[in-house]
Amino acid sequence: MLPTIAWDGDDILMIDQRKLPGREIYVRCKTGNEVAKAITTMVIRGAPAIGVAAAMGLALGARRSTATGTKQFAVDFQRLADTLAATRPTAVNLFWAIERMKQALATGVQAGEGVVELVTRLRQEADRIHDDDLESCRAIGRHGATLVPDDAHILTHCNAGALATAGYGTALGVVRGAVDAGKRVAVYADETRPFLQGARLTAWELVKDGIPTTVITDNMAAAIMARERVDLVVVGADRIAANGDAANKIGTYGLAIAAHAHGIPFYVAAPWSTIDLATPTGAEIPIEERNAKEVTHMAGTQVTPAGALVRNPSFDVTPHRYITAIVTERGILRPPYLEALAGAR
Ligand code: MRU
Repeated sequence: MLPTIAWDGDDILMIDQRKLPGREIYVRCKTGNEVAKAITTMVIRGAPAIGVAAAMGLALGARRSTATGTKQFAVDFQRLADTLAATRPTAVNLFWAIERMKQALATGVQAGEGVVELVTRLRQEADRIHDDDLESCRAIGRHGATLVPDDAHILTHCNAGALATAGYGTALGVVRGAVDAGKRVAVYADETRPFLQGARLTAWELVKDGIPTTVITDNMAAAIMARERVDLVVVGADRIAANGDAANKIGTYGLAIAAHAHGIPFYVAAPWSTIDLATPTGAEIPIEERNAKEVTHMAGTQVTPAGALVRNPSFDVTPHRYITAIVTERGILRPPYLEALAGAR
């Protein structure tokens, strides 16, 4: 299993996902602010992994706090929580994890614990968030495997793998679950312009696992569906609204339309921490707009003329009508999602 994020004593180590697949190097974070920077700069990315990193960052910040009293300790905690919450807006797992850590702190303060006990409590809560995510991914894999026929050709977008979670992955958890169940699978990995999470990260993970993987550029997906065999599409999500609309990496929406046009099932695999029942529909999900340079430059070389306007929305929303099923650790949910999601709460 790939170590996405781990403690090294009181420090946090993360594999630098910007450097993969060329170099496997680790970034060491010694403060909570360094964790926030690692999330902003995409050292670590993927909705569940961002949540886990934020929780561990808060535990790290608590450990480094110089506060001697609980009042100042709580002020330091809140400041770091605000910094972490401002890193990336779309993945709801970030806000979910910060909220869980806030609750843990409140419980400890209410119980009259001192700074030392609170530090321990926050570390334990962060570890639980990490371990629960890994467990959820394995359960998603077990449920999702039942949707995969033997000898399946599976298409995926971006990276919803071990690197995007505490391990095993969500969409790639379904792939791994099928393999663990003894099924033969072959994967088409969308390149995923502009950050290339599919070409760089998904392909890297699957090749390491010995799973047959073909990288295609994003604009090839519909043609492959039309002229070759794609049995199912499975993707992750950054936030799923109460009605089942799902935000995921830019390009997912077009893929869902193409799958619909070809009668191919389109599955979204995500842990419960990605589900945001407080957001009624996808229209209310904030979409991160990233630096234009990700589009204007490739491997450091400018590929667009100076003066051309550029857009770089990092996510899109797939309307629930194009989603065949949502695979969670609690089981496989089918339309109508408003009822299915509320019922599985
Ligand atoms: O910008 P990223 O790399 O953080 O975007 C990641 C995705 O869109 C993933 O598909 C999503 O977070 C699910 S990861 C299990």
